[in-house]
Amino acid sequence: MIDRIHDHPHSRIWILIFLTMIFSVALIVACQPREQSGGDTTQAPAEAETSLADPPDPGDPSAEEVPPDDPAMIEAAWGSSPHADSYVVTAEGMNSSCARCHAPVNWIPTMDEIPESCLTCKFEVDPPPPFIEESVWTHVECKVCHEMKKDEVEPGFAWLEIAPIDEYAEVASTTELCNKCHIVEGIPAHVTITVEGSHVGMLCTECHDAHDTQATCSTSGCHEDALSAASTTPGHDEDHKDVHCVACHTAGELSVGLIEGEWTTLMVEEPGSEVENTPFISHNVVLEAPCERCHFNDNPWGLSVSVSVP
Ligand code: HEC
Ligand code: HEC
Ligand code: HEC
Ligand code: HEC
Ligand code: HEC
Ligand code: HEC
Repeated sequence: MIDRIHDHPHSRIWILIFLTMIFSVALIVACQPREQSGGDTTQAPAEAETSLADPPDPGDPSAEEVPPDDPAMIEAAWGSSPHADSYVVTAEGMNSSCARCHAPVNWIPTMDEIPESCLTCKFEVDPPPPFIEESVWTHVECKVCHEMKKDEVEPGFAWLEIAPIDEYAEVASTTELCNKCHIVEGIPAHVTITVEGSHVGMLCTECHDAHDTQATCSTSGCHEDALSAASTTPGHDEDHKDVHCVACHTAGELSVGLIEGEWTTLMVEEPGSEVENTPFISHNVVLEAPCERCHFNDNPWGLSVSVSVP
């Protein structure tokens, strides 16, 4: 191939012209806001176009763990979830910055907050109004996680990175999608979920339904028999029916407490903050479950101290 180019100087010019054309097409496409098309901003446009038209490739990580499901069930599951009921307002009557995660389609980024991938996009943004009415709040709707075509969700999932121009970014896994919002830094009373301990490496959606967001320790075929009458494991008994699995099995720094009838792990208390005694389910779960976490000397709940572990 290289030899032939050397033999025919003209072909070199044509290759140069051809490459220049491809490059400019690439540039133009990359800078266009795409209407309802989505696709990956980091991929070559030609590739992104075909991957949209074709059915999901089984080798494509973003299509891999997608089960076929009934649309009405999905709609109902989502409708019952906190993602469909995410309206918030601060004590000061502000919520526009909250919309970034609580209603991404309502969110108007400031010039500083526009993702780097869009710095070549030419659109002006006015400073966002501080308050968005509940009646126009869009919650965490389908299109935040799915590219849409004529109000129908496209197969697979993606992240609506720049809502005003319907620009999507590819995500490598469901966890990467969930983490777009569930990694929360510097926002009071919010905690980043980090899966550690025995479950390290598991996807959020191996335990959580992506639409109703529910998870229990005994779903997905896991730990179904943990509390069965036949269990001889200490703690897996009637005495502890109000104790959440993680209250015994957490490995983290979280403390435990009795909140509204259930024993659970608690959010780390920041001095002077309002998060005191806020339940927060640990995602750092291990086999070891020390009885002294609750049955310690002079514990405030009056639990017996002389429990013995076989
Ligand atoms: C666009 C941002 C966003 C994405 C993406 C997202 N979430 Fe959420 N999620 C939220 C917000 C905001 C809430 C809180 C809603 C409320 O109650 O106000 C929430 C609530 C939840 C809750 C309930 C929390 C509680 O305190 O009970 C679970 C569980 C959850 N999400 C799981 C997931 C999973 C799993 C994924 C990935 C499939 C995901 N979320 C993706 C923003 C997001
Ligand atoms: C980076 C994403 C992000 C931002 C920004 C954000 N939140 Fe959240 N918020 C979440 C997620 C995820 C949850 C659910 C998990 C949890 O409870 O920690 C949540 C939960 C909540 C909850 C508890 C659920 C409920 O509805 O009762 C409140 C209250 C809340 N957020 C208020 C706010 C307010 C007010 C702001 C703006 C000042 C804000 N959040 C900004 C991601 C965010
Ligand atoms: C927070 C992100 C999120 C939201 C919001 C969301 N989905 Fe999904 N959806 C997912 C993920 C992730 C999967 C893949 C499920 C898995 O791997 O367990 C999925 C799977 C699906 C599937 C099946 C797989 C496919 O590609 O055909 C359909 C259909 C679907 N969603 C429709 C919807 C509809 C309709 C809504 C709104 C009512 C919605 N989704 C809202 C994240 C979301
Ligand atoms: C090994 C299983 C498992 C994995 C993996 C997992 N979760 Fe959970 N998660 C649970 C269980 C169980 C609960 C408690 C549900 C309950 O008791 O209502 C929970 C609770 C939550 C809550 C509510 C926390 C609270 O108490 O306020 C959020 C938010 C959440 N998970 C998000 C995520 C996200 C995001 C991921 C991925 C980064 C993830 N989870 C991965 C099992 C899991
Ligand atoms: C009162 C504390 C307590 C509670 C609540 C509890 N466990 Fe355990 N669990 C233990 C102890 C102690 C062991 C044995 C640990 C060891 O072998 O070092 C154990 C062992 C296990 C094991 C290993 C296999 C076995 O059965 O011995 C699994 C899996 C498990 N627990 C899951 C769960 C699940 C799921 C829940 C909630 C449905 C739960 N546990 C609730 C204390 C508890
Ligand atoms: C997360 C807190 C917690 C942990 C950890 C815990 N327990 Fe308990 N335990 C309780 C609660 C709550 C009760 C119920 C007290 C009641 O009914 O008044 C209880 C009751 C008991 C009882 C019967 C009543 C009594 O006080 O004698 C025994 C025995 C017991 N636990 C043994 C254990 C053993 C053994 C372990 C370790 C494998 C353990 N517990 C770990 C919270 C805990």
